[in-house]
Amino acid sequence: MASPVKVCVTGAAGQIGYSLVYMIGSGAVFGPNTPVSLHLLDIPPMMGALEGVCMEIADCALPCVRDVVPTADPAVAFNDIDAAFLVGAMPRKEGMERKDLLAANVKIFKVQGEALDKYAKKSVKVLVVGNPANTNALICSQYAPTIPKENFSAMTRLDQNRAQAQIAARLGVPVAEVKNCIIWGNHSSTQFPDVRHATVNGKPVYEAVNDDAWLMGDFISTVQKRGGAVIAARKLSSAMSAAKAACDHMSSWWNGTPDGQFVSMGVFSDGSYDTAPGVMFSFPVHIKDRKWSIVQGLPIDDFAKGKLEATGKELCEERDDAMSVCAAAQ
Ligand code: NAD
Ligand code: LMR
Repeated sequence: MASPVKVCVTGAAGQIGYSLVYMIGSGAVFGPNTPVSLHLLDIPPMMGALEGVCMEIADCALPCVRDVVPTADPAVAFNDIDAAFLVGAMPRKEGMERKDLLAANVKIFKVQGEALDKYAKKSVKVLVVGNPANTNALICSQYAPTIPKENFSAMTRLDQNRAQAQIAARLGVPVAEVKNCIIWGNHSSTQFPDVRHATVNGKPVYEAVNDDAWLMGDFISTVQKRGGAVIAARKLSSAMSAAKAACDHMSSWWNGTPDGQFVSMGVFSDGSYDTAPGVMFSFPVHIKDRKWSIVQGLPIDDFAKGKLEATGKELCEERDDAMSVCAAAQ
């Protein structure tokens, strides 16, 4: 067997962590024949719960899991890692927006950026899940100047999966038949779920659904507000679907995207589609050899243009707020 991929999961004793470590250990991300070394980080008061998670990982008898390192020390958790799932952060409660978490959570990503810079491999692939994910990813990267910016990303794959599932349910087709749904912008209620370029069994979704009012109205708001709807129902934020999306995101990054297909990831904007350069904007990307590139040349109509502007404006505001929080914490 090959040498293990060293993978860190932060917030490993939390809700998402509970599903995520099993999925990674089962081979769903790096492949069924690739051993993984799981580095599990949480805060000191959670070390007892984390020990229980480690017992359960052992009891799953997962062939891919080579070893498990539970720790409260980022120097140990990030040591020489190949991939990081940065989940550990406070979740929102009913009635909050994700950006309301910024003041509490952004400092975690500053400290973890500094630790990644010191201890992780320079090729490490970092996926930020903790909210507000796009802005936390931006800050994390900023405090890890020796790791290429392209190695940081924020998760909008859950939104992409939600969009795909909504279209499949509307048409009564299996989800796998729906391809190329796009999430533009922020993982927030300003995100733009866009199926203008999506297909179902090769046919444009707009033709298959044949209801533009729904596609430009309720479909968009359902996806935008789905996280809040799950919180209202569960009294806890999404966890199983978030873990699955995190695995999908990292799997696409690690293994590439199929020809003709793209996925959405929050990545550094280079100004494509007239977005503000330097914010972590979710774009459709192709991935090859573990490098993403923004899909270029998609036609953007006036409706889409307005949506991209609104979500980009929010990302710039969040960036400025996050910088102030970090500056005050110096
Ligand atoms: P949770 O409260 O169940 O678990 C969070 C865990 O992180 C806890 O065990 C906590 O002790 C730990 N933690 C806190 N600070 C830490 C630190 N500095 N280092 C390491 N661990 C730390 O929350 P959850 O439901 O697992 O959600 C985690 C985060 O993911 C939240 O911010 C939530 O809003 C976000 N989330 C994002 C998406 C997305 O699509 N991007 C989806 C779902 C949830
Ligand atoms: C989600 O989209 O489910 C997560 O970001 C959790 C939340 O706060 O909505």
